[in-house]
Amino acid sequence: LPDAQIILVSNREPYIHNLRDGKIDLVVPASGLVSALEPVMRACAGTWIAHGGGTADRMVVDDDNRIRVPPDKPAYTLSRVWLSEEEQQGYYLGFANDGLWPLCHIVFTRPVFRESDWEQYKAVNQKFADRVCEEARRPDPIVLIQDYHLALLPRMVRQQLPDATIIMFWHIPWPNSEVFSICPWKEEILDGLLGSSIVGFHIQFHCNNFIESIDRFLESRIEREHSAITFGGQTTLVHPYPISIDWPPSVLESQPPVAECRAKIFETLGLPEDMRLLVGVERMDYTKGIIDRFLALEQLFERHPEWIGKLVFLQIAAPSRGTLPAYGQLHRECLDFVEDFNRRFGNEGYSPIVLMDEHHNQGDIYTVYRAADVCVVSSLHDGMNLVAKEFVAARDDEQGVLILSTFAGASRELLDALIVNPYDPTAMGETIYRAVSMPEQEQAARMMRMREVVSSNNVYRWAGTILQDAARIRKRSRVVD
Ligand code: G6P
Repeated sequence: LPDAQIILVSNREPYIHNLRDGKIDLVVPASGLVSALEPVMRACAGTWIAHGGGTADRMVVDDDNRIRVPPDKPAYTLSRVWLSEEEQQGYYLGFANDGLWPLCHIVFTRPVFRESDWEQYKAVNQKFADRVCEEARRPDPIVLIQDYHLALLPRMVRQQLPDATIIMFWHIPWPNSEVFSICPWKEEILDGLLGSSIVGFHIQFHCNNFIESIDRFLESRIEREHSAITFGGQTTLVHPYPISIDWPPSVLESQPPVAECRAKIFETLGLPEDMRLLVGVERMDYTKGIIDRFLALEQLFERHPEWIGKLVFLQIAAPSRGTLPAYGQLHRECLDFVEDFNRRFGNEGYSPIVLMDEHHNQGDIYTVYRAADVCVVSSLHDGMNLVAKEFVAARDDEQGVLILSTFAGASRELLDALIVNPYDPTAMGETIYRAVSMPEQEQAARMMRMREVVSSNNVYRWAGTILQDAARIRKRSRVVD
């Protein structure tokens, strides 16, 4: 696709400029979407359209609201869209995160759908669509639309740019058709998505759920053997593309050897050398099963008390969507749980759980991965989960054990992780026991196999496969013309 123009659109931007103590601070947000796509955009240039949510975002853009990024080595253009408080409330916090997010994740958090949020969601999607058209230098760009914030965008862009190749990638699970039918605007959402040339999910199971939803709620022609849906004269392919990470991750270049990383983190936490370190890294989100892994730790301590005093769980939980009640409540519950747990199992010199509820940069997170004996990913439901893949990428010493939820897409690929059901604290406690007791040889064998999987199925392969499919569609449409 040498001459194609690539426009990527997401709600979240890859670089946020904030004003702090009179200075401009650069933040890379905690987002699986951003960590996957940023290296892809660096490699293929193009334009990334996203919401400018930082307090200094407006100060650093040019008259067209653009800025070249990454700031230290510009490779592509970030085109920022501005949203009012009201738009953010209705579109982002309301419809996307209080409605679609709990709708698509099976975590039994009730989705809330409000008419006023839906109005904002439509208006903001139109705003993004207009920006796509402004950025298009030719009638047939490749438009890569990301995630559930922008479900109406494919149709809106298609209306203005009928020759565009529009690819929608849905980063979170797609529920079964019965659950999806809860959404009062289900037909509009499906119609919006079917403006795409391709709709992608991480796994086949979510593609199947999506096709079932279409079958039930829209009058369309479905060719199951080709995973193709024809609706209103437009054919959309529905395919699985398991997302991944940069390999080797560029952040590793500036990492000291594993032993130094370990010494650094152990010193910061004040831990003796023979302590086992378990880590969890996520946004403070109720889909991640954070308290569930602590309950497993409780089981371990109750059933194997010899481990009390011998291991520490470091939980990094970046603040997220904090003004939504469900997130505020989870944060409070976590703080209370940890306080109580440390009172029960710790003492003055020993806190078995260390909770860091602030944002950390990628470099610091990789140092933590490299320092750890075990990484625990116990999501209750997750599209892919890139923390699991990052932990594997960080361990070039081929040590460390990954505990991974069976409900994360990554469990379909990382078969050498210890797979757990986060709803079963007793079994998960036993798995932690197995992880901390695992001989180095077995760790190395498992880690080596997982590293092979992530290195070959890296994010460039993910993007390459999608773009190859896009190229095939473009060729076919030219032949038909
Ligand atoms: C998930 C979503 C992304 C989102 C990220 C962080 O990974 O799939 O679209 O960017 O969470 O959430 P936030 O609301 O902070 O962008």
